Amino acid sequence: MAMPRTAPPENNAKNLFHPLAPFFLLTSVTFLATSSADLTIPVTHSVFSGGGRWSLVTPSIGVSAMHIQLLPSDHLLIFDRTDFGRSNLSLPPPCPSSDCTAHSLLFDIEANFVRPLALVSDTWCSSGALLPSGSLLQTGGYLSGDKKVRTFPACPDHASPSCVWTELNHTLVDRRWYASNQLLPDGRVFVLGGRNVFTYEFVPKSSPMESSFFLPFLKVTRDAHEENNLYPFIHLLPDGNLFIFANRQSILFDYKKGRVVREYPFIPGPDKRNYPSTGSSVLLPMRLHGSDLPAAEVMVCGGAPRGSYTKAQRLKFYVQASTSCGRLRVMDPSPRWAMEEMPLPRVMSDMLLLPDGNVLIINGATNGTAGWEDATGAIFNPVMYSPYQPDPSLRFRVLSPNRIPRMYHSAAVLVPDGRVFVGGSNPHNKYNFTSHPYPTELSLEAFSPPYLGPQFAILRPSILSIEAPGQTLTYRQSFAVNFVLMMFVPERGLSIGLLAPPFTTHSFGMNQRLLFLEATNLEHHSGISYKVTAAAPQGSTVAPPGNYLLFVVHGEIPSRGLWMKVQSDSSG
Ligand SMILES: *[C@@H]1O[C@H](CO)[C@@H](O)[C@H](O)[C@H]1NC(C)=O
Ligand SMILES: *[C@@H]1O[C@H](CO)[C@@H](O)[C@H](O)[C@H]1NC(C)=O
Ligand SMILES: *[C@@H]1O[C@H](CO)[C@@H](O)[C@H](O)[C@H]1NC(C)=O
Ligand SMILES: *[C@@H]1O[C@H](CO)[C@@H](O)[C@H](O)[C@H]1NC(C)=O
Repeated sequence: MAMPRTAPPENNAKNLFHPLAPFFLLTSVTFLATSSADLTIPVTHSVFSGGGRWSLVTPSIGVSAMHIQLLPSDHLLIFDRTDFGRSNLSLPPPCPSSDCTAHSLLFDIEANFVRPLALVSDTWCSSGALLPSGSLLQTGGYLSGDKKVRTFPACPDHASPSCVWTELNHTLVDRRWYASNQLLPDGRVFVLGGRNVFTYEFVPKSSPMESSFFLPFLKVTRDAHEENNLYPFIHLLPDGNLFIFANRQSILFDYKKGRVVREYPFIPGPDKRNYPSTGSSVLLPMRLHGSDLPAAEVMVCGGAPRGSYTKAQRLKFYVQASTSCGRLRVMDPSPRWAMEEMPLPRVMSDMLLLPDGNVLIINGATNGTAGWEDATGAIFNPVMYSPYQPDPSLRFRVLSPNRIPRMYHSAAVLVPDGRVFVGGSNPHNKYNFTSHPYPTELSLEAFSPPYLGPQFAILRPSILSIEAPGQTLTYRQSFAVNFVLMMFVPERGLSIGLLAPPFTTHSFGMNQRLLFLEATNLEHHSGISYKVTAAAPQGSTVAPPGNYLLFVVHGEIPSRGLWMKVQSDSSG
C-alpha cells in the first residue's frame, strides 16, 4: 500500500473550494485516470472500469417492497398494500383482523433484522414525506386508505411500543391514489394529484376549514385511456416555487398564491414520462455559494411512447421504452430541454442521487409500462450518470448487472454507508411466487456503487465528528467537520454534501435533494486528520428543515453519511 502523501500547506486550501468545484471535482478524476504513470495514486482509473457489486442482503423480508423510506434511525420503513391477502411475514399476536400477516416492516440495516408492523388501512400506491421531526408523514392509498394520513415516528429503539403506525383522525380532503408529496420550507407537506383527482392540498391544514385546490395542469396533462400523468414529479426550487412535471409538460408553481408562474416547453420527443408510462426525475445536485440562490436543474429519464400502455394491456410488447433523458435549467429566463440518450431503454427506472454527485438509474424494464403484467424485458444493469462530466459521451456508464428482475412495484434507496438497497417487484395483483419470468420478489439486495470498491479505501474520508451541537445546523451557520483520510489528493477536490433521503415508490424519490455546501477552510491537523469548515445552507427554500445525511466527498469517493438536522434558529 502506498504511503499517505503529505497534505498540502494550508494556503493551498482555497483552491479546493473554487465555485466550480463540482466540475473541477469530477473532471479531475478524468485527469487522474490518464495519469497511470503516477504510482502513488493507486488505481484511480478503476472508477471507470469498475461496475459496482451486488449482494443479496436477505432472500425474504416477507413483504414486497413497494414503498421505502430510510429513517434517521438507520431503519428502512418498508410497506406494500393490505388488500390482496396474506404476505409472508406474520404479525405477533394478537391478530388485528382476519389477516394475521404484516404488510409493513422495519428493516434494521446494520443488524439485518426485520420487525413486522401492523397497518390499519390500505397504503396501496400512496405517497410520503419525512418530516423535520424525523417522523414519516404518509398519505393516501386505496379505498379504506385513500384519504388517510398516517405517521410513523422517529424511533431509534425498534422494540419500543410507540414504534408503530398511527392513523390520524384528520383525513385528506380528496382521495389520493398515485399522488406525490413534497416537503415545504415551513415543514408542511404539499400533496398533489392522484387518479382522477385534479387538486392539491396541504398537510397539516392552516385552518380546519382549509380545502383542496384545483390545478388545471393535472387535467390538461391526462391522456384519455392511458393517463400518463400520475405520480407527478415535484421539486422544491431554491426560489421557493415548485417545479411540477407530468406526462410531457411542466410548470413553475407558486403554491402560496396558487398561481402558475410559468409554463416550460414540452420535453421533446414522443415519450410519456409519468405513470403508467413511468419514467423518473431528480433535481440535480445543487452547489451552494454565499447567499446567492443556487442554479437548479431538473433531469427526467425514461418512460414510454404513447400507446405503450394500451398495447401492454393486450400483452403486446413490441414497442421499446424510452431511451432519452432531458435536462432543464429551471430558473433560467428561457430554458430549453437538453436531451441525451441513455445506453439502454428503460421504463420504471428509479433515479437516485449518490453522495458523489452522480445519478444512479436502476431497476425497470425495456418494454411495456407500469401496471400488472404490463412490462417485459427486465433490465439488470444500473446506469450511472455523471452530470458534470464535460464530455457527453462519457456521462453514462453501464454498471454490473444483478440477476433478480425488479419490475413494477420495486423500489431503491441509498443507505448511509453509500450502498443502494433494492427491493420489491410484484407485477401481479396478488403475491405469485410461481409466475415466470417475473415472480413476486420478497428479497432485498444491495448494490455497492463503484466508489465502494476496496481499492478506494485509502482515498475514503471517514468523519470523526461534526462540530454542531445536537448534530443540528441552523441556516447560514458555519461549522467544522473533523475527518481522517489516509491519502489526500488535492487534485481530486473535497466537498461536503447534504443529502435528503427520499420516500421512494413507483420510480419516484419524493423529496430527494443533494446540496454541496460552500467549504471555506481546510486544515491539516496531524497525520491523517483534517478539519474542514463549511457553511450551512442559506435558507429553507434551498434546504427545507429536516434530516439530511452529511458526507465528506473526496473526488468521487464519499465517506459514510452522518445524520444531521437542518433547522431555523427559532425552531429550538
Ligand atoms: C411465501 O409463502 C408461501 C406460502 O407459504 C410459500 O409458498 C412461498 O415460497 C413463500 N415465498 C417466499 C419468497 O418466501
Ligand atoms: C382519534 O380520535 C379518537 C377518539 O377521540 C382518540 O381516541 C384517538 O386518540 C385519536 N387518534 C389520534 C391519532 O389522535
Ligand atoms: C422490445 O421492443 C423492441 C422494439 O420493437 C423489440 O426489438 C424487442 O424485441 C422488444 N423486447 C422484448 C423483450 O419484447
Ligand atoms: C401465478 O401466475 C401464473 C401465470 O404466470 C398463473 O398461471 C397462476 O395461476 C398464478 N397463481 C396465482 C396463485 O395467482
